Amino acid sequence: MKALILVGGFGTRLRPLTLSVPKPLVDFANKPMILHQIEALKAIGVTEVVLAINYQPEVMLNFLKDFEAKLGIRITCSQETEPLGTAGPLALARDKLADGSGEPFFVLNSDVISEYPLKEMIEFHKSHGGEASIMVTKVDEPSKYGVVVLEEATGQVERFVEKPKLFVGNKINAGIYLLNPSVLGRIKLRPTSIEKEVFPKIAAEKMLYAMVLPGFWMDIGQPRDYITGLRLYLDSLRKKDASKLASGTHIVGNVLVHESAKIGEGCLIGPDVAIGPGCVVEAGVRLSRCTVMRGVRIKKHACISSSIIGWHSTVGQWARVENMTILGEDVHVCDEIYSNGGVVLPHKEIKSSILKPEIVM
Ligand code: GDD
Ligand code: MG
Repeated sequence: MKALILVGGFGTRLRPLTLSVPKPLVDFANKPMILHQIEALKAIGVTEVVLAINYQPEVMLNFLKDFEAKLGIRITCSQETEPLGTAGPLALARDKLADGSGEPFFVLNSDVISEYPLKEMIEFHKSHGGEASIMVTKVDEPSKYGVVVLEEATGQVERFVEKPKLFVGNKINAGIYLLNPSVLGRIKLRPTSIEKEVFPKIAAEKMLYAMVLPGFWMDIGQPRDYITGLRLYLDSLRKKDASKLASGTHIVGNVLVHESAKIGEGCLIGPDVAIGPGCVVEAGVRLSRCTVMRGVRIKKHACISSSIIGWHSTVGQWARVENMTILGEDVHVCDEIYSNGGVVLPHKEIKSSILKPEIVM
């Protein structure tokens, strides 16, 4: 079985992290977002993953070469010379996806996180006999997604409306599809939106079916959702494999600490924290609802909440970093600084406090 992951787009909503690496390589729960997906695909028997890329393909491929061997899965690249949207890349990769086996293939948005119930999806796809299956999930704010109206009993999709201005329903496209090769016949090699141009047509022909995704789901392509996504992911990890989470008197709730990270005396960490490889957290530090990426140093008595600390940054002693502060790669926050929602570009030194949410260039 094959799969295509849509890895284009510039990831502007996740800047400054995406100034250092393409969005799918931004770490989430201590590993690049895209690895969560590749591992899930491998687990259900996918043998080849095609990355549909239009941005920094070398970076991506170099990185993934290692994992190809480690995971035992083929990772190839289909490179666009102009952005082809969310459907055009399928036409570009037609020969790789339609290999004559007649088997359906998976298509994934690269920025969605869930328990990836792909086995269940294959069963669902077989059961309805339509041309395409999509996963849907309920959200509170459907207007920023593709909304799907379906017949509850069968899952048959009646309407698909991308980013509706008016309320149509609260079940939305989760960005995980299983498509028959015949869908490729519907897509031309030009910039095309699968959500606006392809799905509405298949739905009108009553050949599109939707399955409500069991478990949690989040599009982690924006900082606030990324932080919420980590909470949901860690909750789910607690239920599935609690041994992966940290424990001890200094830990509150769900916390992931890489085995190579060092935590000092008298820290209080959690809930909903991920600490990456090689990090050093000095004594008396307080961390909650945050991600601390590879190689970060947090000095004594610093306090970080609801924030993302990019690779190899440092946070000075007694500093206070909060309210969706996002530090890019290699940022240095001096001692005793306060950051209230600062979004700091890579390689900066912060010598004076950031009192209200703003971008620091
Ligand atoms: N190769 C390629 N080329 N990939 C692209 C391009 C392109 O030109 N444009 C976007 N992508 C990729 C993005 O990298 C992402 O993985 C996926 O396509 C969806 O693009 P987003 O920019 O993240 O879209 P969105 O989040 O606004 O909406 C989409 O996802 C929602 C769920 O998170 C839609 O599919 C909605 O219907 C859906 O509800
Ligand atoms: Mg998205």
